[in-house]
Amino acid sequence: MAFSTSHKPSDRGTDFFPVSPLMIFPEAQGNFEVYVAIKGQYVLYCKQNERLNPEKRRKLHEDGVDFVYILKTQRHGYDAYIQANLAQTLRNEELPLKERAFVLYSASINTVEEFFEAGLPPSLKRRKLRDVISLVKESLDFLTIPQALSKLATLISCNYGLYAHSVNTLTLTAAVLQTYNPAHKTLRNACIGALLHDIGKMSWTRNQFDRDAARIKALEFEAPDPHPSVGAAYCAALPISREILACILLHHERVDGKGYPGGVNGEEIPFHVKALSLVNMYDRLTSKEQGGAALAPFDALKTIKSSLSGAFDPELFKRFVMILADARIT
Ligand SMILES: [Fe+2]
Ligand SMILES: [Fe+2]
Repeated sequence: MAFSTSHKPSDRGTDFFPVSPLMIFPEAQGNFEVYVAIKGQYVLYCKQNERLNPEKRRKLHEDGVDFVYILKTQRHGYDAYIQANLAQTLRNEELPLKERAFVLYSASINTVEEFFEAGLPPSLKRRKLRDVISLVKESLDFLTIPQALSKLATLISCNYGLYAHSVNTLTLTAAVLQTYNPAHKTLRNACIGALLHDIGKMSWTRNQFDRDAARIKALEFEAPDPHPSVGAAYCAALPISREILACILLHHERVDGKGYPGGVNGEEIPFHVKALSLVNMYDRLTSKEQGGAALAPFDALKTIKSSLSGAFDPELFKRFVMILADARIT
């Protein structure tokens, strides 16, 4: 292998994070350096703001390199690069479907890991991260058909924060539902539904996203919107089950019957959707990515209990609080 220069980091394993070479897109330049590991040393393979040309990329493939490495101090540059290029890569029909699916999987796992790192209690991290990652993989396997990938690409290009919210919602939905030991099929469908639940927002304009963020920031919750029905219509052509469709269509319904789009009675909302609906609100209240309320977890739970009493299943709420408080309930 020929390298442009070399670099020997002082402390292996703490300075770098691994990514698949497929996550370094040939025609895009990133504001970070790319290293390869050779005999216990990290060697610079691609400089900052240099394109990893197809030849260099092919060389990695030929040499069976599964991971390249990026300095943790340059994580911000890498995240911005993924946000800017992911949707386009998913739509690139010159890339094999399997490769695009892997890119989506890697980006999603990255989001799950960051979310666990930043937002969940330590012992939950240890116990659940592997389970959630396998559920993400299973959900995405299901979605790697060309029509579904193109819908997810549109969602990502429409608003990357919305995609991150969808992955966070999947993570929390899995964390809550797993404590009830549901049928695996229901758990998997709830995860796929969580990924797709806001897909109807693909039709939103920038202004609508801004208005929605301002509303959540001001803790104003009464704003019915057609995105659940629009999302269900978007997904009509996908081979999705009723359990998944219910996540998309019913995630803004309330147990007191005052939700939207149908104002259906709480008993008509499936249990997995009630869980999704609760954690959806929690992520909206705590997340910074969509410019929302960015409340601390305790304040978000307080808001859900006071301003949104009647919206969510009280038993599920208690369970969720215990999970976030890291109670050992499984
Ligand atoms: Fe929604
Ligand atoms: Fe949502």
